[in-house]
Amino acid sequence: MDVFEAIKSRRSIRKFRKKPIPEQILGQILDAARWAPSESNAQPWEFIVVKNRKIREEIACIAAEACERALLDKKAVERSKKICSREDFKRMVEGMGIPKIVSLLLESSGIVDIVEHLSSTKFGRELAKRMIKGAFIQAPVHIAVLMDKSKRGLCKPWTSLASVACAVQNMMLAATALGIGNHWYGSPCDHADHRMRLGKLLGIPKNYLSLGILVLGYPDIIPKSPSRKSLSEIVHKEEF
Ligand SMILES: Cc1cc2nc3c(=O)[nH]c(=O)nc-3n(C[C@H](O)[C@H](O)[C@H](O)COP(=O)(O)O)c2cc1C
Repeated sequence: MDVFEAIKSRRSIRKFRKKPIPEQILGQILDAARWAPSESNAQPWEFIVVKNRKIREEIACIAAEACERALLDKKAVERSKKICSREDFKRMVEGMGIPKIVSLLLESSGIVDIVEHLSSTKFGRELAKRMIKGAFIQAPVHIAVLMDKSKRGLCKPWTSLASVACAVQNMMLAATALGIGNHWYGSPCDHADHRMRLGKLLGIPKNYLSLGILVLGYPDIIPKSPSRKSLSEIVHKEEF
């Protein structure tokens, strides 16, 4: 698979098969991270590979709680309703492989209202939590993404974040090229208390910042691509 095909076919996978990832393939994916660019070549990235089911379950619980917290945040819900279109949200839900009856039920409430539905009722929030938990537990490999806060070069801290994102993108593209589904979740590290729980669970030292969980596994459902802005919407010529 060439790089353009990997870039375009990479999708955030929400449903995985049980099949484990061979060590050699996992090694190739992790190795791709090392070759990312980084400010001053600081290479501020480190990773914790988790395969143990009990630990993955704990991570899944943290992710589910983070999801509930986001759904209870009215401002965040309003923001996401503005950003995520009907169609994109539908694709996300389809990608989770939730039972047809549930998706019909949700659809009957109007796709845009699904976020509202999931956030405003206890039933909706429980359903969302269950979906996220399931998605995490199914993935046979979790990679906790870490940034070493002490590894800074000439520039400000944002460049460390950007460097780690480059490393994660390398892993996602390598995984895609090797037929391994992947999904980078930021939400489990959105709030300090969840980051602390994750830190305790995985023994993360204080000088590291957790930047989400990359889940990996053989894809069960490859969702259709969510929409993308056109070039004319994002490219300015000569000036803004
Ligand atoms: C930094 C980052 C954080 C993300 N966090 C989440 C998340 O917490 N939950 C989630 O469902 N998807 C998360 N995603 C995945 C996006 O929802 C997804 O990339 C987007 O909808 C586009 O879909 P695609 O990846 O299939 O092209 C995240 C993606 C990135 C790059």
